[in-house]
Amino acid sequence: MMTPGPAAARRRAQADTSMDNVIDFINLNRERYLEELKALLAIPSISALPEHAADVRRCAEWCAAEMRRVGLDHVKLIDTPGHPIVYGDWLAADGAPTILFYGHYDVQPVDPLELWASPPFEATVRDGELYARGAADDKGQVFMHLKAIEAHLRRNNRLPVNIKVFLEGEEEVGSVHLDDFVRAHRSDLAADVVVISDSAMFDRGVPSICYGLRGLVYCQINLRGSRTDLHSGSFGGAVANPAFVLAQMIAQMKDRRGRVKVPGFYADVRPLEAREREAWAALPFNEKKFRKDFGIPRLAGEAGYTTLERLWARPTLEVNGLLSGFTGEGAKTVLPGVAMAKISMRLVPDQDPDKIADLFEAYCRKIAPKTVELTVTRMHGGRPWMTSHDHPYMQAAARAIERSFGRRPVFTREGGSIPVVSTFQEALGVPAVLFGVGLPDENAHAPNEKLDLGNFYTGILAAACLYEEIAHSPAAA
Ligand code: BES
Ligand code: MN
Ligand code: MN
Repeated sequence: MMTPGPAAARRRAQADTSMDNVIDFINLNRERYLEELKALLAIPSISALPEHAADVRRCAEWCAAEMRRVGLDHVKLIDTPGHPIVYGDWLAADGAPTILFYGHYDVQPVDPLELWASPPFEATVRDGELYARGAADDKGQVFMHLKAIEAHLRRNNRLPVNIKVFLEGEEEVGSVHLDDFVRAHRSDLAADVVVISDSAMFDRGVPSICYGLRGLVYCQINLRGSRTDLHSGSFGGAVANPAFVLAQMIAQMKDRRGRVKVPGFYADVRPLEAREREAWAALPFNEKKFRKDFGIPRLAGEAGYTTLERLWARPTLEVNGLLSGFTGEGAKTVLPGVAMAKISMRLVPDQDPDKIADLFEAYCRKIAPKTVELTVTRMHGGRPWMTSHDHPYMQAAARAIERSFGRRPVFTREGGSIPVVSTFQEALGVPAVLFGVGLPDENAHAPNEKLDLGNFYTGILAAACLYEEIAHSPAAA
């Protein structure tokens, strides 16, 4: 091996000193970070609910103000046909690589509110966890990066890399306006690597880097059997019941072995590689604990695949919601006039959301009897994403995680979706590094969402190290 010359050694030593300063700063400021994050979490930026549109905007403005405070330049809100994008950058690291950091400041709705142990928008610490909507998904994780940037700028007056911070307010509603924006602003967003923290660690104490996400197609089915609800005695038996028809249709969507029955659904599915199956089988996944943690009597899924394979590498179809007829207390003899189902499909490489939506709609038309009127509405979608994990920037991230968490990360894929990731890959032609510090039991999208505070603080260190590792990566030369 070649020994580095004196100039390189000096640069490295300087870098080590500046990193020590940054680490000191982060460790000294933990209490302030927590208070600031609580302020961000107090804004109910629920993108799905029109009555919260003003809160979403207020949150974008809060993020912009914070980005200015930490020292980013050119900070601005960018209006879209939906909720605003927040942009800011720091581009004075001459010759160093450029990171495009992406995250979202919008959150999911909070219902059912009565299941929250503390109010969702009053962040509360219990047992080392911070409970609030958005704590893990994704405000807390976005905030880690803002604090890592702040630490570098406060202590060293510079960052080791150039960075463009790009936050959106519509991720939880499918990033519907983002693809067009990214494609139209390719050169403004140009970077060497995309960095995202919007996923979970493999397990408590097991940090991970995610190299694949599933895609998504989301549809709504409406059935109408009569103009209004009818007396079930006077009409039942002679008029189709949309609730019953809907149940029969749903029952035809998957077979007993857990395979989706929509014709052509699997045509473009990339098979799992033997190497991947072996690597996942070696991960510390405890199926029994998984069942216990979530109160699952027995696992279900596509025959021939392990749980991790079913979650990460196989497509699926789920009913997200069902509505029909009388659901109040007591009994009401009624023949429902309508029935509705929300159905989504998670996709894997190389399935195409538009093509799958076409196949799904055609299948619904085929299995719907003439006794009901069928409407299929397409909501949002997103393409699946996968990248190789031997890219030097992935390795840089692995070193940053090892330096901060004290353990090398495992490489995982995830079942969830972040629609814009594949758009970044395609439009900007650069790799994405997904390093998240959430946990499998973080309750994202559910009551009592939480972020482990230890992971939050260590995540700030990891982000700060990541910038430095990316700057010194062989890919940066
Ligand atoms: N952060 C999640 C995505 C995610 C979930 C990544 C689990 C890794 C593991 C993101 O905020 C999310 O919830 N995405 C939605 C996308 C949809 C609304 C288009 C999802 O996956 O349902
Ligand atoms: Mn998220
Ligand atoms: Mn989410």
